[in-house]
Amino acid sequence: MTAVMEKADASAKAGEIPSFDVTIRVRRFNPEGDAAGESHWDEFQITAYGTDRVLDALHKIKWEHDGSLTFRRSCAHGVCGSDAMRINGRNRLACKTLLKDVNPSKPITVEPIKGLPVVKDLVVDMEPFFASYREIMPFLITNGNEPTRERIQSAEQRERFDDTTKCILCAACTSSCPVFWTDGQYFGPAAIVNAHRFIFDSRDEGGQQRLEILNDKEGVWRCRTTFNCTEACPRGIEVTKAIQEVKRAMITRAF
Ligand code: SF4
Ligand code: F3S
Ligand code: FES
Repeated sequence: MTAVMEKADASAKAGEIPSFDVTIRVRRFNPEGDAAGESHWDEFQITAYGTDRVLDALHKIKWEHDGSLTFRRSCAHGVCGSDAMRINGRNRLACKTLLKDVNPSKPITVEPIKGLPVVKDLVVDMEPFFASYREIMPFLITNGNEPTRERIQSAEQRERFDDTTKCILCAACTSSCPVFWTDGQYFGPAAIVNAHRFIFDSRDEGGQQRLEILNDKEGVWRCRTTFNCTEACPRGIEVTKAIQEVKRAMITRAF
């Protein structure tokens, strides 16, 4: 039994809520003190409970140890997509990652996601990510007059793009992609996922335009089927499969 488990076990026997001590190592960058591109590690010891997530640990550090620690979060329930970060080297949402699931008997490392400019500590500039997203026109495109009633769609037609509707734009996929790391020019998996969501929507008439946009030298053909994106997606979207389907639609024009 590890020391962490022994402490939790002892607390449980004493009728308390089990707690354990954990070390969090945070990669930090202060734009007002550090040279551009220079970062350093800070270590914090905290006491946590079995249901605590990495986000709870970061809150504890900010509120009790160092108020200058900077990170983004909003919903705290895996919906808004604002707290994607590298935890023990893997992209995850801090609000969906339990400390006990990432081996708290060793220091847990927390870093900003890769491939996007760091603004401060764990906050990155998401603008390059959203610029690609805007480029694929993430909205319904239709021609002709406005209909007088809703646009009908069968359950089967809706099912065709159901998986890619789940995206919360957290950037965990794009920032885990080695092709994106090389120069940040690749559209990235998140933009392609969101193009897929409209290309395969039976009500949409902009599929052709989107395929042309993604047929760019920085578009779908840069994907090397690495699957990092699929592994990173906190919504369980089959990202690589969606990219393959867009590639196929580009060749067959069937969508
Ligand atoms: Fe996040 Fe998944 Fe959307 Fe990528 S596809 S932005 S990982 S929710
Ligand atoms: Fe990158 Fe995902 Fe393709 S990680 S190379 S976009 S399969
Ligand atoms: Fe909203 Fe984590 S804080 S997804």
